[in-house]
Amino acid sequence: MTTYAFRSASPAKTRADAVVVGIATSTKGPVIASGGEDVQAAWGRKFRPLLSAIGFTGKAGEVAKVPTAGAINSPLVVLVGLGEQKQVDHVRVRRAAGVAARTVTNAASVAIALPADSPELVRAVTEGYLLGTYAFDDYKRDSKPKSEKSSEVVVLSPIARQGEAIAAYERAHLVAGALNATRQWVNLPANDLNPPLFADAVVAAHAELTKGKGAPKVGIKVWDEQELAADGCGGILGVGGGSATPPRLVKLTWEPAGATRHVALVGKGVTFDSGGYTIKPANSMATMKEDMAGAASVVQALFLIARLGLPVKVTAWAPMAENMVSGEAMRPGDVLTIRGGTTVEVSNTDAEGRLILADALVMAAEEEPDAIIDIATLTGHMVVALGDKVAGVMGTDDVVADLRAAADAAGEAVWPMPIPEEMEQRVRSSKIADIAQHDWVRWGGGLFAAAFLREFTNGLPWGHLDIAGPGFNTGGPHGFTPAGGTGFGVATLVEYVESLAAARPDDA
Ligand code: BES
Ligand code: MN
Ligand code: ZN
Repeated sequence: MTTYAFRSASPAKTRADAVVVGIATSTKGPVIASGGEDVQAAWGRKFRPLLSAIGFTGKAGEVAKVPTAGAINSPLVVLVGLGEQKQVDHVRVRRAAGVAARTVTNAASVAIALPADSPELVRAVTEGYLLGTYAFDDYKRDSKPKSEKSSEVVVLSPIARQGEAIAAYERAHLVAGALNATRQWVNLPANDLNPPLFADAVVAAHAELTKGKGAPKVGIKVWDEQELAADGCGGILGVGGGSATPPRLVKLTWEPAGATRHVALVGKGVTFDSGGYTIKPANSMATMKEDMAGAASVVQALFLIARLGLPVKVTAWAPMAENMVSGEAMRPGDVLTIRGGTTVEVSNTDAEGRLILADALVMAAEEEPDAIIDIATLTGHMVVALGDKVAGVMGTDDVVADLRAAADAAGEAVWPMPIPEEMEQRVRSSKIADIAQHDWVRWGGGLFAAAFLREFTNGLPWGHLDIAGPGFNTGGPHGFTPAGGTGFGVATLVEYVESLAAARPDDA
């Protein structure tokens, strides 16, 4: 067990196996970041020569372990780069804390003395560190059960006795817990997380969240394949038809007394995307266990919203299906009937996400929420456009603006993309059905997908996050982001809901 504490103390006097301090770059060379001044003072004039001796500049991502040889109470100081001094903000601090967490692997006790003189920075340090400790090693022979490793982590802050700082510190634990839980689901291989197992995992997590006195009250409903058929969910059934493990739909409801707003969250839960008969090439298929990241993030976002007790009604819809090939799989040319009766001509079985989202969007819209937000690893086109660290955001102008602000506050990168007018005609261009799922025009596929989803939102305020890039990290760990599932989106969704809670009802 790792225990965490939040204290106001000098990092030079704190007894810990390792002390983490930040170094920023400046025109005058590397400078100690706030929080670490005492450590520098303990070295006195020998501090700068020490940095130059090991070639430490303070660039973001840089990290070094330095034995202190008695200069401070702790035997080891861990230096982490924060980048340009004037640009040190909560995002950089969160990343640096993550780097530090991955570096102190053999210390039983760690004191973190990164910049933490505002509640926002307290949250960034704590969250970044907790996120940085996450690694997916469940399938490694030598992975220790997490409970066996006992250690203590102390976050140091000059304002550690202030209520707002304590609240920020506690919130960081909840946020990081939700992101790490999202990552865990995304990382589970598709043979251990098929649609029924995913739904079971959500049921189990829900039971854990809601058990005991004072626990938040969250409603849950799971549709199996018969119930999906009874409710006319032809999109989810079409996509899931080729799999030996049948599809599911999970709905969660957080409805606090007195809530005046309702937000519906809808997340893509394709537990594995082979492409179906429009099969993917081997290299694109390899990471497609990630294709349920949207569903994992809406579930964990709702759980987090409930834990935080945010005064907004939130529903989360997680359609789950495995896109496979078999005698019962959907074919190119098939026509599916989405809930509500809209028929869709399928021409590319690999554009499956929009089909399962369509049913869930219709169900969400039936409750007439004030806004619908969907999140999905939807298109490779978005990765081509924005790279693998930025999500595309589309939808109605007001919701897009609010989501951008929420993402900024959460420290997640999103960028607006348009839904050009022509897309509406293209989506409605099927010769035989109400709408076309795909039109083989190579360009702007991420925008076409958004226009397709819009058909199922019943004109309600709506935002769409395409996280095909940032939802999964195929490279090595960086900042607070591990390899594999990232948890991207959870923090933005929660921040968005919180911004509605803060707005007065008549602002709507
Ligand atoms: N799950 C993929 C999108 C994806 C790509 C996610 C890369 C993560 C990383 C999605 O179902 C898909 O296959 N999209 C197609 C859309 C096309 C058929 C219109 C794609 O990206 O090519
Ligand atoms: Mn696909
Ligand atoms: Zn997919």
